Amino acid sequence: MDERERQLAYIEKCRELYEKKVEELGRKLSFHVTTFGCQMNARDSEKLCGILESIGYVQEDEEEKADLILFNTCTVRDNANQRVYGHLGVLKKYKRLNPELKIGICGCMMQEKTAVEKIRKSYPYVDIIFGTHNVFKLAEIMYHSYTSEGMIIDLWEETEQIVEDLPVDRKYSFKSGVNIMFGCNNFCSYCIVPYVRGRERSRRPSDIVTEIEKLVADGVVEVMLLGQNVNSYGLDFVKKQKNGTLEEDVEVITFPELLKRIEKIDGLKRIRFMTSHPKDLSDELIEVMKNSKKICHHMHLPLQSGSSRLLADMNRHYTKEQYVELALKLRREIPDIAITTDIIVGYPGETKEDVDETLDVIRTVQYDNAFTFQYSKRTGTPAAAREDQVEKAQVQEQFDRVLSLVQETSKARTALLEGQVLSALVEDVDEQQEGYVTGRLGNNNCVHFPGSIALIGSIVEVKLTKCMGFYYIGEMV
Ligand code: SAH
Ligand code: SF4
Ligand code: F3S
Repeated sequence: MDERERQLAYIEKCRELYEKKVEELGRKLSFHVTTFGCQMNARDSEKLCGILESIGYVQEDEEEKADLILFNTCTVRDNANQRVYGHLGVLKKYKRLNPELKIGICGCMMQEKTAVEKIRKSYPYVDIIFGTHNVFKLAEIMYHSYTSEGMIIDLWEETEQIVEDLPVDRKYSFKSGVNIMFGCNNFCSYCIVPYVRGRERSRRPSDIVTEIEKLVADGVVEVMLLGQNVNSYGLDFVKKQKNGTLEEDVEVITFPELLKRIEKIDGLKRIRFMTSHPKDLSDELIEVMKNSKKICHHMHLPLQSGSSRLLADMNRHYTKEQYVELALKLRREIPDIAITTDIIVGYPGETKEDVDETLDVIRTVQYDNAFTFQYSKRTGTPAAAREDQVEKAQVQEQFDRVLSLVQETSKARTALLEGQVLSALVEDVDEQQEGYVTGRLGNNNCVHFPGSIALIGSIVEVKLTKCMGFYYIGEMV
């Protein structure tokens, strides 16, 4: 039996136990999943929901009413961890009120031994703990939790395994994330992700294409291809090919080649991807984007810092000049491209002059949007061991400088498109204004315009009548 079949068998076993419970209690059982962190985690949560629904559980929007509460955690910065601990404290009360309640924690934070130790000691009422490598095992873990006492902990340090085609419950009917690879090999000096997500593993091109074809048949018009560094898609296959360990039926292709295949899928209208590491963004990728009718003209290109000295220390493998050249090349080749970024302020040893360099890049590139983070010390990473950590007050001061400049440039970029007619994928009804819907433009910005719920999932042409800072008010044309 392969792993997929094993897990389907566990879903079946859980379903039997679940149905007994339903009979006993005279009601269905429900679940609530809270997701922290990035799109990878969001996609994992959809897989978790899919498995739970196959067992019979129904989704419950209000956490305190659920019979199973699952936290899919992130650990990229310490504040994400603190939010989980804070939240766990609250759950103790729920447990007293509902004897059926099970509490589960999974995700990146659980790949850290210290976090797991802390939960074992301080939050013993947690029922299940698992990690990033064995999300597909949820039914098996639930089965053990049903049939034995105490906390079930199932953690893997690493894996080579990718289990395809288990149930998934998508959050949106019309768009979906699609993992093209897992893990990260880059070991940027500040970052915990490679330690909690393991080494890079690409999915086979044929599995990716088949998944997207199925999604499209099910109503999806937009996919977001997910990887910590999509530009190194397939490099693990190349390595295996060289040392003779590649399975015979695996086709070795690059990321741009994968994009070209996905472009050919009938019915698929939009393709996005993230994240693209500047160190290996190829001309071939720019060419494919430029010629594509489906790839959105949006590039998320994390800068982290504009100081070449810090970039070297961060192990990013590019200089300020190389980055700027690349960004300007993108703007030159694809004039309507939106470039967004991530910036860290307060990396060990960072001076005001380093931040000046970052501001200089922001001014030159004119980001359409930027996420600015205060450096967070992650135990086990090289940067955490450094003695020249920057003082909190200085970090805040420099952070404010960066934030105000990115807001300024991003507003200026947004204003440029006022008056244009662009296509938007209608994603939701507008919560703020009755009779309005919210659409997402190719550049990832939002436009609110009069429309009905029936438009959700369709791509329509919208005139951006008024720029409101970071978004637009528009009208369908
Ligand atoms: N793989 C992606 C990033 C994933 S993490 C990439 O390389 O671009 C998302 C962002 O979190 C990073 O781009 C970085 O800006 C930020 N980040 C990562 N580690 C951090 C840390 N220790 N402190 C503050 N921000 C961090
Ligand atoms: Fe972290 Fe760097 Fe990997 Fe991105 S590329 S996940 S920042 S180590
Ligand atoms: Fe966080 Fe894990 Fe993503 S640490 S940013 S959820 S890969």
